[in-house]
Amino acid sequence: MARPVTNNDLPEPPRTAVYGAPPLDLVDVPPDAAQLSPLRPGSQAIEALPDGALDDLVVAAPPGSIERRFVLAHALRALRPGGTLTVLGAKDKGGGRLRGELEGFGCEVAERFKARQRLCTVTRPPTPQGLDEAIAEGSPVLVEKIGLQSQPGIFSWNRIDPGSALLVRHLPAFAGHGADLGAGLGILSRAVLASPKVEALTLIEIDRRAVDAAKLNVTDPRARFNWADARETKLTELDFVVTNPPFHAEGIEDRGLGQAFIASAARMLRRSGTLLLVANRHMPYEAALRTAFRSVETRVEEAGYKIFEARK
Ligand SMILES: C[S@@+](CC[C@H](N)C(=O)[O-])C[C@H]1O[C@@H](n2cnc3c(N)ncnc32)[C@H](O)[C@@H]1O
Repeated sequence: MARPVTNNDLPEPPRTAVYGAPPLDLVDVPPDAAQLSPLRPGSQAIEALPDGALDDLVVAAPPGSIERRFVLAHALRALRPGGTLTVLGAKDKGGGRLRGELEGFGCEVAERFKARQRLCTVTRPPTPQGLDEAIAEGSPVLVEKIGLQSQPGIFSWNRIDPGSALLVRHLPAFAGHGADLGAGLGILSRAVLASPKVEALTLIEIDRRAVDAAKLNVTDPRARFNWADARETKLTELDFVVTNPPFHAEGIEDRGLGQAFIASAARMLRRSGTLLLVANRHMPYEAALRTAFRSVETRVEEAGYKIFEARK
């Protein structure tokens, strides 16, 4: 008979951790710090840390205010009283609000300015205030107006992105095996799975919160979920790929990301497989499409967006 699991069998929680990717020239992160981030596949969730487990935590503050207050509240919850929290944020990406937000939780804040970043350091007070409210406000939720499970911090978390809406309207009935790269909440995937000829669809997404939400939004048994970087996937021989590619990596604009998604889609498709991609018409994707695919057509151009169909 199996031995019952005891507390002694559970892995020790980390004592020190880093959330996100703070600029390492501005702050010291101990080499043994556990990596926390919903955007780093395989890393731990700050939400899952036990209360009072950490001695030190460095946080790269997310830009969205609900998401940021959620992360700060979890940071203070997960630190032991007297533990140290260092938070960094660019002034125009929420850094300017950090001091007030931390003071609102009852912290005494030491603030410094370095290279356009605000650095706030606090010692975790014995009884921080308002943590439960901030955590509740930033937690997963059913967004009634779009009828989807979501969470602040996910791309376009409480509205349908116009590019995705356009692609949904113009989606052909696919067949066979496919993937949705950067699947987000699963809006495109749900529409793809409306075709009975689709045998399997893999939703690949780098944001764990979006993957968790998509599992509730896309309940079709043909869907598979992969918390992963779409540039590194090992899937091959697919019949089709759909994508509304990202142009930000951890808050920083990166136009190369969409180009890398195109190259990745080309590797994943079988001969004559189809890529359907929607993007803002100003995005520089046509050259990358023509390099990676035999034929490229603009299927739709509407309201500032383009849908490209490319065949391998
Ligand atoms: C423009 S959004 C599209 C989301 C969703 N498909 C939709 O139509 O609403 C791009 C998505 O790609 C995800 N993403 C960003 N970088 C990624 C990467 N390297 N690998 C996989 N997904 C990524 C983002 O988290 C975001 O959900």
